[in-house]
Amino acid sequence: MNFSLKDKVALITGASRGIGQAAAVGLAQAGADIAIASRKLPDLEKVAEQVRKTGRKCLPVAAHVARMEEINNLVGKVKEEFGKIDILVNNAATNPTMASAMDVDERAWDSIMNLNLKGLFFLSQAVARVMKEKGGGKIINVSSIAGITPDLLPVYSISKAAVLMATKVMAQQWAQYKIRVNAIAPGLTKTRFSEALWNNPDILKIAMGKTPMARVADPEEMVGAIIYLASDASSYVTGQVIAIDGGTTI
Ligand SMILES: NC(=O)c1ccc[n+]([C@@H]2O[C@H](COP(=O)([O-])OP(=O)(O)OC[C@H]3O[C@@H](n4cnc5c(N)ncnc54)[C@H](OP(=O)(O)O)[C@@H]3O)[C@@H](O)[C@H]2O)c1
Repeated sequence: MNFSLKDKVALITGASRGIGQAAAVGLAQAGADIAIASRKLPDLEKVAEQVRKTGRKCLPVAAHVARMEEINNLVGKVKEEFGKIDILVNNAATNPTMASAMDVDERAWDSIMNLNLKGLFFLSQAVARVMKEKGGGKIINVSSIAGITPDLLPVYSISKAAVLMATKVMAQQWAQYKIRVNAIAPGLTKTRFSEALWNNPDILKIAMGKTPMARVADPEEMVGAIIYLASDASSYVTGQVIAIDGGTTI
């Protein structure tokens, strides 16, 4: 079985902290050169230093991946630097509201859907065109257990469920170009994104009550599955989702 990513090029969005940062370092340790994107370059520079310590190259690019122009600019820069993109990890996402389905407004809907779904789709399309030209690639979408079972974040849940369907659609249509597309669905993970959940004792108690392993994940615990899906170890796997959730979705 081959888990090596030696001499592959991986682009990871939302890689300035949390799961994306862990994925950038983990994919580099598995042998890949890395391009990382998020909106803030100074944060990316710190992660780039960490990646370079593994001996691999790292290109940080500031990009708002809900904006078409910035998506195209990002893909152009990575192609210019490395000549190819073998692996895309669509990890950037947002949830600016805790409002219920009765109260949530259009502005929050647009900001969630524009990044979590539209940006993910069109970045995948732009990268898939490069992968097609170069003979194939792997796309890994970061969904959520909230996309499998609804939770406290209604529009976010809808966006993450749509990410699972986007995974299947892309897998089905792009297999002919040797592009495999899969997803991971993390459970509650200790990052800034979910701090309002794991730092709230009442919410944490409810979440852990539904989680057989009864603990929050560390971002690094998402990396093994990402390496598996990015490598030849998963050579016959496409259109699938791996929940990494301590058993919450059982
Ligand atoms: N943490 C959890 O409990 C959990 C559970 C299930 C799924 N997930 C999923 O895991 C993924 C990573 O989340 P995380 O928990 O690691 O969050 P995080 O630590 O808050 O990191 C989010 C990353 O996304 C970037 N980002 C935000 N908006 C962006 C934009 N418009 N364009 C480009 N980059 C943007 C952020 O950087 P900038 O602010 O600099 O742009 C940051 O690098 C997300 O897809 C999330 O839905 C998380």
